[in-house]
Amino acid sequence: MKIFLDTADIEEIRIAARWGVLDGVTTNPSLFAKTSGMTYEQVLTEVCKITSGPVSAEVVADDVDGMLREGRAFAKLAPNIVVKVPMSEEGLEAISRFADEGIKTNCTLIFTSNQGLLAAKAGASLISPFVGRLDDINQDGMIVIRELVDIVTIHDIESEVLAASIRNPLHMTQAALAGAHVATLPFKVLQQMVHHPLTTTGIVQFRADWDKARKALESQNGKAKSEAAAAATKPGA
Ligand code: E4P
Repeated sequence: MKIFLDTADIEEIRIAARWGVLDGVTTNPSLFAKTSGMTYEQVLTEVCKITSGPVSAEVVADDVDGMLREGRAFAKLAPNIVVKVPMSEEGLEAISRFADEGIKTNCTLIFTSNQGLLAAKAGASLISPFVGRLDDINQDGMIVIRELVDIVTIHDIESEVLAASIRNPLHMTQAALAGAHVATLPFKVLQQMVHHPLTTTGIVQFRADWDKARKALESQNGKAKSEAAAAATKPGA
């Protein structure tokens, strides 16, 4: 399963890239709103310098022409830009037009398998069911991931299922087991995946035992040296 970071924070993306676990990035207007000092285009250009994987840039227009205009401009920023288009009647038409133009798309805000199926038919390269937002309203978001993975497999559809709106490490494990091709997660959840209390205490314990063993060896060596020196100064030695 590919791991995308769901953020517009450049520093977080740099860190994940250094860890060697970053396959791409998804952004959205809400994530961009948390950044400051750069335009959305500047953020996207910078992100595309850090990763050569797909970088989703979301359109905000609600009409087809507006979506096409915004998406074409994003696509010119870098070869790895994927235009993120919301699920809607207009969105489907825009996705289909982008596909004809060879521009890759990520259909976002998917909450049912039927929406995902339509997005795939229209030509989206990524289809993004929102797991966390479904869980928030007491529906099992992971069901949509499982169903869509089955649907694209059974019908040999090229679109990849991207588990989005990931809220915790358990979602990541479940998405991987469900066969999601990609999961996009906030940096905080990526950090949570790294850490475990037993790992932390294990590292501390190994370090303490190592220091203890070195000190014991040093004092043994010191004792042996002073015994040898004492023996050498004995009369008749
Ligand atoms: C995906 O591409 C979206 O940006 C994201 O996963 C939404 O997550 P949220 O429901 O936590 O806002």
